[in-house]
Amino acid sequence: AQQVPDILSPEFAADPYPAYRVMREEAPLIWHEPTQSYIISRYEDLERVFKDRNGEFTTDNYNWQIEPVHGKTILQLSGREHSVRRALVAPAFRGADLQEKFLPVIERNSRELLDTFRHTGSADLVADYATRFPVNVIAEMLGLDKADHERFHGWYTSVIAFLGNLAGDPEVAAAGERTRVEFAEYMIPVIQERRKNPGEDLLSTLCSAEVDGVRMSDEDIKAFCSLLLAAGGETTDKAIASIFANLLLHPEQLAAVREDRGLIPRAFAETLRYTPPVHMIMRQSATEVTVSGGTIPAGATVTCLIGAANRDADRFRDPDRFDIFRDDLTTTTAFSAAADHLAFALGRHFCVGALLAKAEVETGVGQLLDAMPGIRLADGYDPVEQGVFTRGPQSLPVVFTPVAD
Ligand code: HEM
Repeated sequence: AQQVPDILSPEFAADPYPAYRVMREEAPLIWHEPTQSYIISRYEDLERVFKDRNGEFTTDNYNWQIEPVHGKTILQLSGREHSVRRALVAPAFRGADLQEKFLPVIERNSRELLDTFRHTGSADLVADYATRFPVNVIAEMLGLDKADHERFHGWYTSVIAFLGNLAGDPEVAAAGERTRVEFAEYMIPVIQERRKNPGEDLLSTLCSAEVDGVRMSDEDIKAFCSLLLAAGGETTDKAIASIFANLLLHPEQLAAVREDRGLIPRAFAETLRYTPPVHMIMRQSATEVTVSGGTIPAGATVTCLIGAANRDADRFRDPDRFDIFRDDLTTTTAFSAAADHLAFALGRHFCVGALLAKAEVETGVGQLLDAMPGIRLADGYDPVEQGVFTRGPQSLPVVFTPVAD
């Protein structure tokens, strides 16, 4: 059997896809000593773990993996407690709230960023656009003071460093915990103020939401907002960078999308399959379970490699090919049942912000194509993906024909 490169090794970080193939084909269940977890990589195994029809898996692992930086969030909840929390927060991310309140915020924030470089003829789509756009949108959706957006951005960076710290660097861990304290010191008074003077923003919606007589505490709302930094910021940031990298590297598909904007949802779905922003998520086994012929004991952490499962040849034809025209992928993102790539997971924790992410990415792509005619990668530049837990191009220098007003 081939040696499987360690998921913490530099060669894996440089290009995890060959290792994913070896895992899927030869070692679909691996015990990984450094992260003290069982690694799984096949589509059918991840689908089973996420859907969890037999109550075999929990998200208790998040009690130590994300609790130090976020506190207790929806991701750690299960059963009825989770369903109620989900019913409290989900309406804000779909339907009328999304269309009427937040779509204009998305469109304006994207345009404002584009206006900073559209006259210049060159930009780095990661630094100048992707890393700023989703987090600006969340800050404004929450109704935070514009003057505080830069601090919000700083917390965002620290939270992401904490979550990506698979190797357990103590300084990164300590910085993450400091962020939790600072974020709470900032957020709790804002929440209390918003309870007294509600507005049209997401924070006010979360403060007044009530399901079966249950409301969220200040601490619950603060933890949810903290989760949004990573869950809604970094993920969408990576999705935007990756959709552009994929299209720029496949100029004929970029030309097709430019010609027919109706293809943007296909490009988004295929990007989520081919280069998912979140490459791995964890679960905990509630009982002893058999996966791909091997045994996982009760109470073990299970690392689920989304990046590997999305390229499983048993599920997707010619999986290593980026092809927005493939017919084995649906493009609707609204409900977990309709999503067949695993980028948003499946089942009870299926991404609550999937429609918001779709609106942001699709708006962003449309506006960028309008603002940047003739867009192409800067001469000699080959995009380099970075990250193991979340992953996307490190930078994306492009040139285009400047557009005057
Ligand atoms: C859950 C991915 C955008 C909010 C998740 C999960 C994944 C994911 C994989 C499941 C985590 C797990 O089960 O352990 C993504 C990707 C995005 C994205 C790839 C962008 C392309 C967003 C946005 C928001 C958001 C824009 C909100 C602003 C959440 C929340 C959860 C979640 C709150 C937890 C849901 C629950 O526990 O019930 N996301 N996400 N996400 N996402 Fe997203």
